[in-house]
Amino acid sequence: MIAGCASRRVRAALILDAGCGPGRDLARFTAHGHVARGIDLNPAFVAMANAHAPTSEGDLRDIGRRYPAGTSDGIWASASLVHLLESETVDVLGQFAQLLRPGGALYVCLKATGDTGWPDEPDGRRWYTVWDAETFAATVADAGFTIDGVDRGDFVEVWATRSR
Ligand SMILES: C[S@@+](CC[C@H](N)C(=O)[O-])C[C@H]1O[C@@H](n2cnc3c(N)ncnc32)[C@H](O)[C@@H]1O
Repeated sequence: MIAGCASRRVRAALILDAGCGPGRDLARFTAHGHVARGIDLNPAFVAMANAHAPTSEGDLRDIGRRYPAGTSDGIWASASLVHLLESETVDVLGQFAQLLRPGGALYVCLKATGDTGWPDEPDGRRWYTVWDAETFAATVADAGFTIDGVDRGDFVEVWATRSR
């Protein structure tokens, strides 16, 4: 347990940041007393993220083999699954379900506007899969989650709990 604000006490959670980038959110989880672990494909980001929490260079598409099953309290995937094909995302959501303990929490944020494909960007080209919010929420549910909330906008944000 860690001391929370005022008299509230908050249990420290083990949180995986899947596609953590340079570690902005890892820093926040750590600052709140959680045990955070990052994974990212980009070695430059991994080096930066390691300043905030232990971070491994690796591919989300085999994340299920990197951590023990059923032990994570939370998985945070902010704007990372956008770079996977739809079929890969379905598979990775199943791996997330395996990694989380029953009742564990999932947050995923994905692109919900624009076109699926390879847009030109100032720093190069990368793949984006654009999801319809309802389709994505149903896909998360099919992977073994109860949907707690869906925020709709240019990005769809899904909050879910690993079904018991
Ligand atoms: C838009 S950034 C988001 C970074 C961070 N989560 C944030 O919200 O600031 C997408 C991240 O996903 C990572 N990424 C993309 N495909 C990946 C894959 N297959 N495995 C691991 N990381 C991946 C990229 O390297 C990048 O750091």
